[in-house]
Amino acid sequence: MDIIVKPDLAEASGDLLILPVFEDRAWGPGTEAVVADLGDWVDDYLEGLDFSGKTGQTAAVPGANGFGRILFVGLGEEVDADVLRKVAGIAGRAASRHEKVVTTLSEVDIDGAVDAVVYGFLLGQYRFDKYLSDKKPSKTVELVLTGSDENDEIAHAQALADGVAMARDLINEPAGGKKPEILAGIASDMASELAIDITVYDRDQIEEERFGGLLAVSLGATNPPRMVVMNYRPEGAEKTLALIGKGIVFDSGGLSIKPAAGMETMKTDMSGAAAVFGAMRAIATLGLKVNVLAITPLTENMTGGAAQRPGDIFAARNGKTVEVLNTDAEGRLVLADGLSLAAESKPDLMIDIATLTGACMVALGKGIAGLFGSDDAAAEQVEAAARRAGEKVWRMPVEKDYRAKLDSPIADLKNIGDRYGGAITAALFLAEFTDDLPWVHLDIAGPARADADDGYISTGGTGFAVATLVATAEEMAG
Ligand code: BES
Ligand code: ZN
Ligand code: ZN
Repeated sequence: MDIIVKPDLAEASGDLLILPVFEDRAWGPGTEAVVADLGDWVDDYLEGLDFSGKTGQTAAVPGANGFGRILFVGLGEEVDADVLRKVAGIAGRAASRHEKVVTTLSEVDIDGAVDAVVYGFLLGQYRFDKYLSDKKPSKTVELVLTGSDENDEIAHAQALADGVAMARDLINEPAGGKKPEILAGIASDMASELAIDITVYDRDQIEEERFGGLLAVSLGATNPPRMVVMNYRPEGAEKTLALIGKGIVFDSGGLSIKPAAGMETMKTDMSGAAAVFGAMRAIATLGLKVNVLAITPLTENMTGGAAQRPGDIFAARNGKTVEVLNTDAEGRLVLADGLSLAAESKPDLMIDIATLTGACMVALGKGIAGLFGSDDAAAEQVEAAARRAGEKVWRMPVEKDYRAKLDSPIADLKNIGDRYGGAITAALFLAEFTDDLPWVHLDIAGPARADADDGYISTGGTGFAVATLVATAEEMAG
């Protein structure tokens, strides 16, 4: 899609014009003149539809002034970048039947309006139609924004939306189509396209490198595991950010098998790895001056004659031994190796991203990720990035008093606690592999997947955390 800027609405024409309206039908930028041209009936018509300009409301009327159709979109009372992204997403979805789309949403008077509108619009048009016989791809080929020419914001939003769309595509792909070696191949293609260094470890190399957690989880699977390590090292970078993503391409639970209903969405258990891939794509595309080390352990968690058994013990990359009492608590096992490896290069900050616990979803619901930090500075750094990115996170405690729940009589630790505080005990488990370096853990079990379209979010994989990771990298790049 081409994105073009025109200083004035009077110079633009197209199939669809999208006009913003604030609460109580206060006309947004550009709207008043068009409404005046259309005639008095418009206000009554919108009144009849109960369209008052509440956030996310839409109403369409036949066009005028060289536009085939006009779509009014409600912005509500208090508009910030989050509202604009959301409304632009709704507009983008509604616009997909039109080829040439014009909007004045870009003239809403807030910082980063153009970025928010482009990001929301592009992701609102996202769909996963690979397996549909009757595809209805978006027809939009051109988006015209009115107002001042913010080309940096446009490029930024496009790179970020591309990264999110990549993550969504990977998450939405069925497990059979994203075996670890296939995902590793996708990472390799991206790495060569964007001048990122990559190393892919196969099963034997995973064993040689002592990635004991990844190996243990992979034992039940016929499709072999991969450990993917990428390094983005731009000239002039001073800081290093390590990103570690849980890449369970299917989580059956292993021998501690899940009930059927619990397995339905478990192709999405690689959303952490997908977020890392998407963030790497955006960071390298934008050329951010920060080193990024990306680590994604990839495997299925399956049952089978060779599968790890409850009670088995393995040694992780950092040497700590783990008694596996529940094979469904597998994410933390593969992350143990990922974090250990990341810690070896002493990065300035490590962030792991994982659909780690149902407990976190119980605590915070589907819309909010749990954020755990080694210290206030690290946690607040990522909280601030998430706020800028428009992604909801909530700080959770890494409560040392609960560490004893992970004590095992025969190994350094066990992989589950008791019935309570499951998201916290999972974080405490991960902390054992961070070498006490600055670290943040994002439990995205809830927001990684959406059950319905909502703003720029589409049903299925959301690509949650890509924007937060990129915002963190931007801040570290200075
Ligand atoms: N992948 C799941 C967590 C999950 C559940 C993510 C539902 C998204 C939706 C994870 O591997 C898991 O099964 N965790 C267990 C841990 C328990 C056995 C300690 C859980 O949360 O029940
Ligand atoms: Zn599991
Ligand atoms: Zn899992």
